[in-house]
Amino acid sequence: MELRLKERLGRKFDEEIRFFKGWMDGPKSVGAICPTSSVTAKRMASVISPSSGLPVLELGPGTGVITKAILERGIAPENLVSIEYSTDFYQNLIKTYEGVHFINGDAFELDKTLGEMKSVIFDSVISAIPMLSFPMESRIALLEDLLDRMPAGRPVMQITYGPVSPIIANPDRYKIKHYDFVVRNIPPAQLWTYTRT
Ligand SMILES: C[S@@+](CC[C@H](N)C(=O)[O-])C[C@H]1O[C@@H](n2cnc3c(N)ncnc32)[C@H](O)[C@@H]1O
Repeated sequence: MELRLKERLGRKFDEEIRFFKGWMDGPKSVGAICPTSSVTAKRMASVISPSSGLPVLELGPGTGVITKAILERGIAPENLVSIEYSTDFYQNLIKTYEGVHFINGDAFELDKTLGEMKSVIFDSVISAIPMLSFPMESRIALLEDLLDRMPAGRPVMQITYGPVSPIIANPDRYKIKHYDFVVRNIPPAQLWTYTRT
């Protein structure tokens, strides 16, 4: 087998082992059976506007597939803030993506988790948080908090596997858009965006 292909397969295998380990440590908090596909990750990162010059906030980077797509979208590592709850995933992320501002913490407690960066305005939010594992009130509170940290009109991009938006509608507060259904993902993924009304 060609060496590069062997290396690539090896890396993919490592990723899946790590994912499985994270899943065993807390299946509810990982919330998926496989890492996000690179096709999905690219679609999610496509909403980022690199020309805004503002940093991007990522939630639930896991194995880093989406982190990679965000960087490839043209975001400098130091302009990416990424919050991961699992210490295992976090330890691996800081080794793999030098310069990215990873935080080992809880996305549902943004002020505490962001610390000194709590007043930063972000261009957009790219989230792989397993929303369906959390109560609806927490999902709404997180979304409201995220929208308050972005200029009006900029999106929170959320991946999920259910057929409907993981956050209920509230047209007076935010607009929900079904962005895409990505079949090349295991399981197929739904992408939703949320913007301030
Ligand atoms: C479905 S996985 C997606 C991982 C990543 N996108 C990938 O494909 O490898 C969800 C990720 O969210 C993280 N997570 C779950 N709850 C979290 C929380 N409250 N704060 C931050 N990250 C959280 C999990 O540890 C996991 O890495």
